Amino acid sequence: MSAPGREQAAARIAALRALLDHHSYRYHVLDDPEIGDAQYDALYSELKALESAHPDLVTPDSITQRVGEVPVSDLVKVAHLQRMLSLANARSAEELRAWIQRMRNFLAREGIENPAFEFVAEPKIDGLAMSLVYEHGLLVRGVTRGDGETGEDVTHNLRTIAQIPLRLKTSAPPPLLEVRGEVYMSLPDFQALNERRAAAGESTFMNPRNSAAGTVRQLDPRLAAGRPLSFWAYQLGVASEEVTFTTHYAGLQWLRELGFPVNPDICVLASEEAVVAQCERWEQRRGALDFEIDGVVVKVNDLELQRRLGVVGREPRWAIAWKFPPTTAVTTLAGIGWNPGKFGDLHPYAILEPVRVGGVTVKQATLHNEEDLARKDLRVGEEVIVLRAGDVIPQVVAPAPHVAQRPDRPPRPLPPARCPACDTPTVKPEGSVFTKCPNRDCPGRRAQLLTHFVGAMDIDGLGEKQVLTFMGLGWLRSAADIYRLSEREQDLLALAGFGETSARKLLAAIEASKERPFGRVLFAIGIEEVGEVTGRALAQQFGTVEALLAAGTAELEATPGVGPKMAQAIHEQLADPAMRELIADLRELGLQFEEEGPAPGAGPLAGRTFVLTGTLPELTREQASAIITSAGGKVTGSVSKRTDYVVAGESAGSKLARAQQLGVAVIDEAGLLALAEHGDGEPVVK
Ligand code: IVH
Repeated sequence: MSAPGREQAAARIAALRALLDHHSYRYHVLDDPEIGDAQYDALYSELKALESAHPDLVTPDSITQRVGEVPVSDLVKVAHLQRMLSLANARSAEELRAWIQRMRNFLAREGIENPAFEFVAEPKIDGLAMSLVYEHGLLVRGVTRGDGETGEDVTHNLRTIAQIPLRLKTSAPPPLLEVRGEVYMSLPDFQALNERRAAAGESTFMNPRNSAAGTVRQLDPRLAAGRPLSFWAYQLGVASEEVTFTTHYAGLQWLRELGFPVNPDICVLASEEAVVAQCERWEQRRGALDFEIDGVVVKVNDLELQRRLGVVGREPRWAIAWKFPPTTAVTTLAGIGWNPGKFGDLHPYAILEPVRVGGVTVKQATLHNEEDLARKDLRVGEEVIVLRAGDVIPQVVAPAPHVAQRPDRPPRPLPPARCPACDTPTVKPEGSVFTKCPNRDCPGRRAQLLTHFVGAMDIDGLGEKQVLTFMGLGWLRSAADIYRLSEREQDLLALAGFGETSARKLLAAIEASKERPFGRVLFAIGIEEVGEVTGRALAQQFGTVEALLAAGTAELEATPGVGPKMAQAIHEQLADPAMRELIADLRELGLQFEEEGPAPGAGPLAGRTFVLTGTLPELTREQASAIITSAGGKVTGSVSKRTDYVVAGESAGSKLARAQQLGVAVIDEAGLLALAEHGDGEPVVK
C-alpha cells in the first residue's frame, strides 16, 4: 500500500520536474528565461523537499540529480560506439578549394560525376569533444574523445552542465542515440574563475580550453559544478534505425528540438565562394564571441555523399577544419620594461623576441602589475607563452612548460631602483605591494595622468600619442594646459599631421569637453580610488566643489560606495595644494564643478529610492539611472522595505520577485518616465 499522499507527491514531483526542465532550458539553452531566479529557486526547493520525503521517487533524470554527492574513484576507460574522428586542416581559400576538388575526383572515380555539393559551416569550438549516449531518451553515458577509439567516462561531470539534457525533449525517443559536441568554458566564465582563483591564492588556468579539460576530468562532480562549463552539439553519432535524415543540417535541427544547444549561426551554403565568405565572416567575428573558436568546420551536407566519401586514416573525406592563425605562440622574454602609471605605480610589461600570433607580430605584451609578474614566475631569457585573444592586447601567460622545471633558472626580475622615466629613486610604500615613483612631476606619470584625463573627458582627436607630442613640445604639463591649447592654434597648424580642419576639430572637441558633468571631471582629474562611479556619487552627494573640498572624512564616508579607507585617501588628496590649484585652474577655464539639475532633496523624485531590474524596452540602465538621479531620486542595487519603486523590464529576475514579496511598487519604463516628469503622477503599475 502506498503511503498517504504518495500519489499526490508523485504527481507534483512529475509536474515540478517538467516545469523546472522547461525553465532550465529557457535559461541555459535559449538564454531567454520566462521566470526570475527566486521563482525558479522556489520550485527547485519544493521538488527537493518532496524528493527527500519520498526518496523512492527520485530518478536519475531529475534536475536535482545533476550534481552527484559522491566522487568517482577514478575515470573508467570506455570504448566508443563509433570511432571519433579528427579533421584535416585547410589554412587558406586555396586549400579549401583543393579539398573540394579532391572530393570531386574521388567521387568521379566512384562513378558520381558533378555532385551538387551543399556545405554546412560551423564554428570550430576550442574545447573538448564529447560523446553523449542516450538510451530511450535518458543520458546514460558521456565519454571524452580519448584516442578516438576509447575515451574516459566523465558522465558525473557532464551531468552538471545545465545545457546537456538528462532526458531528451521528445515523447518518442529512439532506443539509442549518440550525440557529439564540444564541452567548453565561455570567456566570461573563464575570466571569473581565474579571478576567483587568483583572489584565493590558487594557480590560474592558461586558457579556457585547459580550464575545461581540467574540470571535465575531475573525480568530484561538486568541483565540476562549481566551474561552469557549456556545451554545443554539432553531430549525430550512432543511432537506432528509426533515426533517418538525409542531411547533416536536418540532423542538427532535430538535435535542437531534442533540447541541445546548436549554434544558431550554422547555415547551409551552396558554393565554394559562399563557404569561403562564411569562413572569413567567422574569422572576423571571432573576437566578438564569448567563447573561443580556432577555426570553422566545413561539412558536406548530404549524408549519402558523406557515406560514399568515407574516411581516410582518422579523417573523414567529407569534412575539413579551416583553421585561423593561432592565438598563442612561444617566444623568448627579452626583458621587462617598467612604466609609471598615473599615480606613480610602476607597471611592468614584457619585451619579447618578435613573434607571429593571431595574425600579427607581437613585440610587447602587458603584465598588469608587479604581483602578476611574480605570480607568473617569468624570467628574462626564458621562453614564454604569449596569448592574443581576439582584439585584446597580447599578454604573457606563463613560462613555456619545459622551462619551469629547470634547476638553473635565471633570477626573478625585480622592479627598478630608479624610475625609468625620471630617474627618481623608487619607493615601496608600507603595506603596498607595488613599487612607486614618488615624483609627482615625473613626465612618465604625468603623461599617463593626462592620457587618462583626455580619455575620461572624451576629447576626440587627443590620445596618448598627441599627449606625448604636446608634452615634448612643452605645451602640456597639467590638464589645465589642454584648455590653453586654443592659444596655440598657429603652432598647431605648423605641426606635421595637423591640417586646418583637424586642428580646428581638436580645439572644438576640447571646448566641448567643458560641458562634461561634475562627476566626470572628478573622475578625470585623477584622484586615487575615485573611478567613474565614485566621481558621480561624490558629485551627487556634495553638489558643488566647495562642499566637497570642505568635507571631512566622516562626510565623505556618507557617500554611497565610499568606505573609511577610501574617504581618508580622498580627503588627503583633495587637501593637497597641487590638487587645489588644478581644480581652481580648471574652474577658471570653465569646466563643470557643480552638479547640474536639482540639488539633492529637490526635483520630482526627491527622497525616492529606485531599483532597476531586467532589460527596459528603450533605455539602457545608465540612461534610466541618469533620469532618476537628475530628477532628484536615488538608485540602489537591492530591494528592501525602503525601496519606493522597482523598475522592471524584460527578464526581470529575483529583484522583481523580492519587490512583490515586500509589496514594493513595480513600474515599467513608461511608468518611470511619467514619474520623473510629474513626480506624483499616477505610476503605471505592472
Ligand atoms: S566534427 C568528423 N564539428 O574539432 C567529425 N568537430 O579535429 C569530427 N570540433 O575533436 C568532428 N567544433 O573537438 C566537429 N563543429 C564541429 C567542431 C568540432 C570543434 C573539434 C572536435 C574534434 C576536433 C576535430
